[in-house]
Amino acid sequence: MFQTKDTIIILAIESSCDDTAAAVIINGKLRSNIISSQLIHQKYGGVVPELASRAHQQMIVPVVQKSLVTAAVDITQLTAVAYTQGPGLMGSLLVGSSYARALSLSLGIPSIGINHLKAHVLTHFIEDPYPEWPFLCLLVSGGHTQIIQVNSPSKMLILGKTLDDAAGEAFDKSAKMLGLPYPGGPLIEKCAVGGNPNKFIFPETKVPYFDYSFSGFKTAVLYFIRDQSKNNPDFIAQNMADICASIQAYIVRYLLKNLEKAAIKKGIKEIAIAGGVAANCSLRHELKHLSKRHGWNVYLPKLAYSTDNAAMIAIAAHFKYLEGSFSGLDEVSFARESVAS
Ligand code: KG4
Ligand code: ZN
Repeated sequence: MFQTKDTIIILAIESSCDDTAAAVIINGKLRSNIISSQLIHQKYGGVVPELASRAHQQMIVPVVQKSLVTAAVDITQLTAVAYTQGPGLMGSLLVGSSYARALSLSLGIPSIGINHLKAHVLTHFIEDPYPEWPFLCLLVSGGHTQIIQVNSPSKMLILGKTLDDAAGEAFDKSAKMLGLPYPGGPLIEKCAVGGNPNKFIFPETKVPYFDYSFSGFKTAVLYFIRDQSKNNPDFIAQNMADICASIQAYIVRYLLKNLEKAAIKKGIKEIAIAGGVAANCSLRHELKHLSKRHGWNVYLPKLAYSTDNAAMIAIAAHFKYLEGSFSGLDEVSFARESVAS
């Protein structure tokens, strides 16, 4: 690849949970985006941290190599190496951060630690059209549910968040109760096709401001399935589509209700969603529908950029590189930090 002294070539590594991913970005343009998802966790009904870090160790070298080859970049051409700093599973984070920092040290180039949540939000700058600042982002993943006012790449303000479980967890745990494997979110969506979303109504958990709570919903689903199955052992099998459609409708309705309130209160019409649950077609459809009513400009990430990926770490690193914000060798390589700065 032709390179001048001003060319910024960043290798980005994501290893916060159960995906080993690497991407290369050149002057803010994504050149490769490689991901290896760990299937081993499916049979355990959730991510097993020790197995996850072992799988990251096995996959990190081939995934990084593939990302460099795809981008036609030699490792010696890199300007910086970025990695997910947190939040995430400690063992998994350590694999990516140690690899990235050792590589940057050996090449004599800076390393850049990236907040995983901020990276999900900045997904919207990988490809046109970009949202205008400030915009609101509903960040919905397996571990987090937040409404964020995004003022700049580094200035983000949390307007609302879940007080207990995340939206992705609500999907995954409901799926587990229905006997579906992990991760259950996409399977609930699949099984909901053709189901009646109004067949089963779960009581809404009311919390102040723009916050969320999903633990009451989770318990309501548990009791509902238990009670119905007592009377009819085949209840789940006979009503799978309607149950899944009703669960999905509850979560989507609840997520959008607070997002709508926050958008009205803040007078912001640039609205984005990010995180694994942003891959949900019903959420995307209902958000588009709502946007027509309010005249919002809505930004939906491509499916490949909704769930965990290294492209989002790469774009966040590009912004940080422009700011000259690098990680020192004496800093901790991971942190359980929040998205707010
Ligand atoms: O952002 P992500 O890949 O990882 C975390 O940082 O947590 O999000 C994973 C979460 C899981 O809970 C998964 O079930 C959920 O996103 N998810 C979905 C869909 N695809 C992934 N939930 C509902 N519908 C989907 N299509
Ligand atoms: Zn994530």
